[in-house]
Amino acid sequence: MSGLWNWFYSKGEDTLLEILSSGPVPQHIGFVMDGNRRYARRNHKEVKQGHVDGYAALRGILEICMRLGVRCVSVYAFALDNFKRSPDEVDALMNLAETKLLELCEHGELLEKHGIRLNVIGKRSLLPLSVQTVVKKAEDLTKNNDKAVLNLCMPYGSQDEMVTSVQTSVREALTLNDPDFVITEEDIDRNLMMSLVNSPPLDILIRTSGVKRLSDYLLWECSENTQIQFLSCYWPDIGLWDLIPIILEYQRKATMFHVGDVVPPFSYSISIWQHLF
Ligand code: FPP
Ligand code: MG
Repeated sequence: MSGLWNWFYSKGEDTLLEILSSGPVPQHIGFVMDGNRRYARRNHKEVKQGHVDGYAALRGILEICMRLGVRCVSVYAFALDNFKRSPDEVDALMNLAETKLLELCEHGELLEKHGIRLNVIGKRSLLPLSVQTVVKKAEDLTKNNDKAVLNLCMPYGSQDEMVTSVQTSVREALTLNDPDFVITEEDIDRNLMMSLVNSPPLDILIRTSGVKRLSDYLLWECSENTQIQFLSCYWPDIGLWDLIPIILEYQRKATMFHVGDVVPPFSYSISIWQHLF
């Protein structure tokens, strides 16, 4: 009986994803994957296991985003600040990155299946050499994938991203040898790590775990058009049902913008339902 129920449930999810993907779909979603340790504590697991379960959740969310047709997903996998955590926890996260990055790129695995290119964004020189080697290999393995992009931000900090961009812009300006040259907002934007890998504008930023902070993540990229959403679930518990209201809200706003009219909540998706049945 439970097999039958699972079959119906999974068919229901497939249908829902198909319906949602026929509306306006965000091009770029960012995730602050927060709450792994509280999830571990609540479930009487080790902190390390909380991060392992967090990785499983990342795979699930990536699969959902791909089926929705999202072109770019950026995740905060390790903040520069996370180096201040205990050496045990930092080691566990680095080992996780080392083992799982290659797993993700293997033949028939998620990145190949959906044609996803992997970019690791941040101060990569701070990663252990063994992780840097794996990162390079994983990026090389996926460099020809052109359907979607996964930006794994590690070790990343927004202020560092902006400072690095200013430094690059100043270096560029110096080579021009023109005393009147002015560095503009466009120059800083163009030299951001996110722009250098051609990421589209950030449509939605989602943070889990009930904490309402940006924590030095994609501060420049969050524009007036970015929908910022805070979810109360811990990251390893996130699933399709947490994303649905967020996508519906995006579609409602996108429809309003295009039609120039006020559309009541959910009416866009209801009209898709009516269209299908
Ligand atoms: C934040 O929760 C989470 C992290 C610091 C790590 C996130 C990493 C993953 C989900 C796995 C990434 C996968 C790869 C392949 C690198 P927290 O530790 O701050 O938990 P808390 O808020 O409950 O303390
Ligand atoms: Mg946290």
